Amino acid sequence: MADLTCGAALSDRRLLITAGPTHEPIDAVRYIANRSSGRLGLVLAEVASRRGVRTTLLLGPTHLGPSDSTRFATHRFTTTSDLQALLAEHWPSHDILIMAAAVADYRPRTPVTGKLRRAAEAFAIELEPTPDLLAGLDALTRPGQYRVGFALEPESELIARARSKLASKHLDAIVANPLATMDADSIDGVLVTAAGETHPPAGLMPKSRFAAWLLDEIEGLVLTSSDDHE
Ligand code: CTP
Repeated sequence: MADLTCGAALSDRRLLITAGPTHEPIDAVRYIANRSSGRLGLVLAEVASRRGVRTTLLLGPTHLGPSDSTRFATHRFTTTSDLQALLAEHWPSHDILIMAAAVADYRPRTPVTGKLRRAAEAFAIELEPTPDLLAGLDALTRPGQYRVGFALEPESELIARARSKLASKHLDAIVANPLATMDADSIDGVLVTAAGETHPPAGLMPKSRFAAWLLDEIEGLVLTSSDDHE
């Protein structure tokens, strides 16, 4: 059972969580996607709201969804562009962002109108890079807002690559997690902070336990950073 205790640091903040994959259309019926289930973001929103944190979830196209009894607002997105628009709308009224969504890095440059038909010849789909949403939020972020990203990486370069993403996206912290986390029930992630610290939890654990642990950690970091601002 997740720990429901909550200190003052998060109960007076508004938390924005993104979760799930994006679908980038190829034509009217096909898309490019990834295996993200959105499970961790969903459980983070559930644990946070049960702790009394005012929470908003931006949830991608996944078969999972919040239960009827949840006390947080959910907005659904399909594409990277949809999520970009939702972030622009909701980030200014929140204090903490946990960006767990597995955003596509590329999308078809010109989706076909209607349905692509089978033909004998091979063909190529031209892909263009999507904008880096987290990095792009810099311009919309005010002092005191706190951004936590995720880095999905092979085990061999987990921490090094997470550190480099934390720096290039100007984050306050990043959860480094191995590729096996995607669409799994458990996670073996490490929290890396902008101060250079690594906070490992107690190894592989169910995503519900990890969510409770991560919220405790973020609460501690937010408390410390608000002390620094005073
Ligand atoms: N992210 C984002 N916009 C994108 C791609 C990723 O905001 N277009 C965010 C993710 O939500 C995550 C963080 O950036 O919090 C790192 O995502 P990840 O896929 O690990 O890294 P990328 O920056 O996409 O780089 P690469 O795929 O080359 O590892």
